Amino acid sequence: MDVWSLEKCGFDAGEAVGDGNRFLCANGYMGLRGAPEEAGRDLYAAVTLAGVYDRNGQAWREPVNAPNALYLRLFFNGKALALGETRPIKHRQRLDYRCGLFSRDTLFDPVRVESERFVSMAEHSLLADRYRMQVIQDGEITLQAGISTDLWDINGPHFKGFDFRPGPALQVRAVTCEKGIEVAAAQCLRTDFETLERLEQRPEGLFRMLTCPVKKGQILTVEVFAAVCTSQEGKDPAETARQSCLRARERGFEECLKAHRDAWEDIWACSEVTLEGNGEAARDLHASQYHLNCIAPRHAQDLSIPARGLSGQTYKGAIFWDAEIFCLPMFVFTQPEIARSLLRYRIETLPGALKKAREYGYRGAFYAWESQEGGQEGCTDFNVVDVFTHRPVRTYFRDRQIHISADVVYALWQYSVWTGDRTLLEEGGARVILECARFYLSRANAHLDRTEVDYADVIGPDEYHERVCNNAFTNRMILYCIESALSLREVFGDKKAWFSSLLKEMDYERELPLLEELCGRLRGPKTREGVIEQFDGYFALEDCSLDAVRARLRDDREYWGGDHGVAGTTQIIKQADVLALMALLPEAFEDEEVEKNWQYYEPRTEHGSSLSACMYALTACRLGLLDEAWRLFRRTAGIDVTGGGKQWAGEIYIGGTHPASNGGAWMIAALGFAGLRMSNGRPEIHPRLPDQLTRLTFPVIAGGKKWTVDITRDGGSILPS
Ligand code: BGC
Repeated sequence: MDVWSLEKCGFDAGEAVGDGNRFLCANGYMGLRGAPEEAGRDLYAAVTLAGVYDRNGQAWREPVNAPNALYLRLFFNGKALALGETRPIKHRQRLDYRCGLFSRDTLFDPVRVESERFVSMAEHSLLADRYRMQVIQDGEITLQAGISTDLWDINGPHFKGFDFRPGPALQVRAVTCEKGIEVAAAQCLRTDFETLERLEQRPEGLFRMLTCPVKKGQILTVEVFAAVCTSQEGKDPAETARQSCLRARERGFEECLKAHRDAWEDIWACSEVTLEGNGEAARDLHASQYHLNCIAPRHAQDLSIPARGLSGQTYKGAIFWDAEIFCLPMFVFTQPEIARSLLRYRIETLPGALKKAREYGYRGAFYAWESQEGGQEGCTDFNVVDVFTHRPVRTYFRDRQIHISADVVYALWQYSVWTGDRTLLEEGGARVILECARFYLSRANAHLDRTEVDYADVIGPDEYHERVCNNAFTNRMILYCIESALSLREVFGDKKAWFSSLLKEMDYERELPLLEELCGRLRGPKTREGVIEQFDGYFALEDCSLDAVRARLRDDREYWGGDHGVAGTTQIIKQADVLALMALLPEAFEDEEVEKNWQYYEPRTEHGSSLSACMYALTACRLGLLDEAWRLFRRTAGIDVTGGGKQWAGEIYIGGTHPASNGGAWMIAALGFAGLRMSNGRPEIHPRLPDQLTRLTFPVIAGGKKWTVDITRDGGSILPS
């Protein structure tokens, strides 16, 4: 089987939302959904921009979709030949993961269309398409080529209007409603046929109509070059886009494609994980790595990865803990400069976190649960809509999921341990850690009559149980955060003067002893026969099976959490919570303890979040439960091939690609099956290959050097490369 591509035959408009995700092309700057060239909003076509957000009225803020400058629509003798409207005789589409190339082969009566397109990895503003038409009958072809403003928006429109400019390159300029950010798209063509050309400006875009008489058997090719720029990167984005697509036209499609392929080759050279023994699993892992690599910020140094990547506007294009805990490790070990960008995003958005803490009456840094530009909180108080009453449901993710600040600290700290690079700590990371610790100090609940400090009214990773007390994950991660803050003194031992002046500037000296005290008094987890209680009172909840809870649902899209959700009164949890803690802090727990907790919690976990399976898989590897690890690995790695994962939270659509799962797949292979870990600044392996695999190899950057890991059934090696 071809382990480097995804192919689909036939076209079903009912699957267009999912296919748009699975066949995504992206380059970290923008994502082009896998819809055909002729698609508009009906087939969920979109070019989603990274880091550009807008809010229309009172609707949710979300990322902006640029005008679609790769738009093409074909007519034969005046009749449209378009997927979704015209039934094709045959249709096949394919995504090549090796070089991010989307291709299609559609046989309409009477024209065969073959095309290839990409979002350039070599030049972030560029997109290109080569579109070939083979005519089966004499007649007349018209090609409508231009920039479509018929955009799929969830909470749009996001532009005040469009300014159309004709010329050798067509241009569309638009300005966002909220902040007046200018977004410009340009398109130019190269054809190998003479046409009669006329310009059409319509509400849905600016187009060239190319008309040409054709003979049976004739083949016509058009190369389309498009560019998207915004005022966030520079002045006069329309002119920059115009020049960029005209320059691409001079180079031609082949040359642009070659530069794009070379850029992908470099990405794979430092990140490709090869699995032998199971073709489907190897393909799924390539898919995961492709999806994560193609949305990684490479054009900017302080951007992060949204929960649904660049596949659209779901989850408001926001950055969650997914970025630090699930996506980051692959980059730390393969492309550390991208890891730095993800972490710099949090350093740059510290002011937003300070503001949020103040709004709630706390001190220090409380990071946004759903972070948008500048650290602005995208999470609303009503984040789910009830399927029965259609009313918004009050959710407490924004105000109570306080583990987010500790997750940021965990990532900063792990990055410096794994890479040995402490410059990020010096360049703002230390300040972030101290401000997060300060937040937890001010958020603690201390009872006068008790020696212990609680964290009451919180939400752990398992979002189905809201407003609980002493969530084990939250408390332990807070401890990690505080210990990290205290350890900074040793880290900066040789820079004592620098660190002391940072403390002074932050008015922090009085706080360090308080942090020490908090460390000693923070409530540890309660256990029953070795099983950690997820939060106070969890064991007293109804202990029933997952199937029993599922049987209580009256609607597939029903939300399981919140005040009236089916899971709330039971021990059924949404995702890894205690087990996530054990996966993140393996040294803090003994094998026996991990095993007891795995056995208890796994059957009670719905895996209702795509973040769940990989945490269980990592701990399963540790315990040698390799069949379980394999099952969970397949589920994690396959998610953006099968198009699995939950699509709805109540009435809110949450589909898209799954970067956290993509990162999780890398983690299971590298940290789980190969057992990669750092010990005294050197990487080590502890292989545990499941029976289904014969070999696993991958490159790693660790301790500033490059290594190759090679695991077979007879053992494994990690050698400098
Ligand atoms: C999960 C969160 C996650 C978010 C974005 C939710 O369904 O419960 O843990 O951060 O999705 O992926």
